[in-house]
Amino acid sequence: MDNKVFVTGAAGFIGSTLCKRLVDDGYRVTAIDSFTDYYSPERKHGNLRDIISHKNFELIEEDINDYDIGEIINGSRCVFHLAAQAGVRMSWGKEFSVYVDSNILTTQKILEALKGNERTRLVYSSSSSVYGQTDKLPMREDQRLKPVSPYGVTKLSGEHLCELYRINFGINTLSLRYFTVYGPRQRPDMAFSRFIVAALTGGEIEIYGDGKQTRDFTFVSDAVEANMLAMEYDGEETIFNIGGGSRVSVLDVLEILKSRIDEDFDIRFIDKAKGDVLDTWADTSSARKELGFSPRIGLEEGIEREIGWYRNFLNSK
Ligand code: UGA
Repeated sequence: MDNKVFVTGAAGFIGSTLCKRLVDDGYRVTAIDSFTDYYSPERKHGNLRDIISHKNFELIEEDINDYDIGEIINGSRCVFHLAAQAGVRMSWGKEFSVYVDSNILTTQKILEALKGNERTRLVYSSSSSVYGQTDKLPMREDQRLKPVSPYGVTKLSGEHLCELYRINFGINTLSLRYFTVYGPRQRPDMAFSRFIVAALTGGEIEIYGDGKQTRDFTFVSDAVEANMLAMEYDGEETIFNIGGGSRVSVLDVLEILKSRIDEDFDIRFIDKAKGDVLDTWADTSSARKELGFSPRIGLEEGIEREIGWYRNFLNSK
C-alpha cells in the first residue's frame, strides 16, 4: 500500500500538475493517458516534460477502456481518476458518445477493478457542472442537481456510479466537484487560455452572452491540494465542492487582464453558449471542515501566473 498511487488522465491540465506534486512529495506514480486529440497531444507530452524521466514516475500511453488496469490498482494507496472528456460546450450532438465512453464507461471500469481493493481510496474528479442552473447560491453539496449540459450529465453519472459502488461493494470513493480550474497549463479551450492568448497575440476575445455570467474560479494548485487531502481523509462525507473563493463575472476577468497585459485587444460579444450555466459559486464549508481545505491563490495572483506561463509557452513555439 505504502506510497504507490495511480493517476488517470495524467497528461492533462490538472492531472499533470497533480503528478508533479505527487512525485515531489515522494509518491511512486503510475500514470495513464490516452493522449486524445481534443487538443494537441504534443502539448500534453509537454505537460509531463519535467517528470517523465523521474525514477518514481511511469507513464502508460493507453486508453483505460482497452487496458487491464487490475494489476496497477492492486496495492495502490489511491487512484486519482482525472481521465475524462472535458468541455461543457462541445458535449452536444454526435460528440456525446465520446463523453459517455470517457466519463461514464471508464469510471465504471475503474470501479469494477477496485472490487476487492476496499482500502484503496478512489478520488473521482467531478465538476460544478453537475449543479446546472439554480437560484440557490452558493451551491451546497446536498442541493438538487439539474445539469444543463450533456457533459454535466455524464460527470453526474460518474458520481452516482461512485456512490453505488461505495454502498454495494464498499469501494472507498470520494468525489471532488471542481469549480472552473485555471492556471499554468490550462486547457486551451477554456476561457482564460483563450483570452490570454488573444490578448498576447493581438487577437480578438469572444465573450459568450453579455459577460455578466459568474464563476467561482479555482487555481490549479488548490485543486491539487484538495486531491492530496482527499487521499488522506477518513471521515464520513463522500462529496465535496472545491472552489477557489474568487467568484467574479467574465467582464471582471477582462478588467484584470487589461490591467496586466499592455497589448490592445478587441472584444466581441457573441451568442450565449448552449450548456453554459449563468452562475457558479461554491459553498466550501464542508471541504474546509472535513478535509481542511483552504484555497491559497487569489484570482489576481493566479491570472498573473497563468499569463506568465503563456508568455513562456508562446515564446517557446
Ligand atoms: C469549466 C471546464 O471547462 C469544465 O471541464 C469544468 O467541468 C467546469 O469548468 C466546471 O467547473 O464544472 P466553464 O466554467 O465553462 O467550464 O469554464 P471556462 O471555459 O473557463 O468558461 C468560463 C466562462 O467564460 C463561461 O461562462 C463561458 O461562457 C465564458 N467564455 C468561455 C467566454 O465568454 N468566451 C470564451 O471564449 C470561453
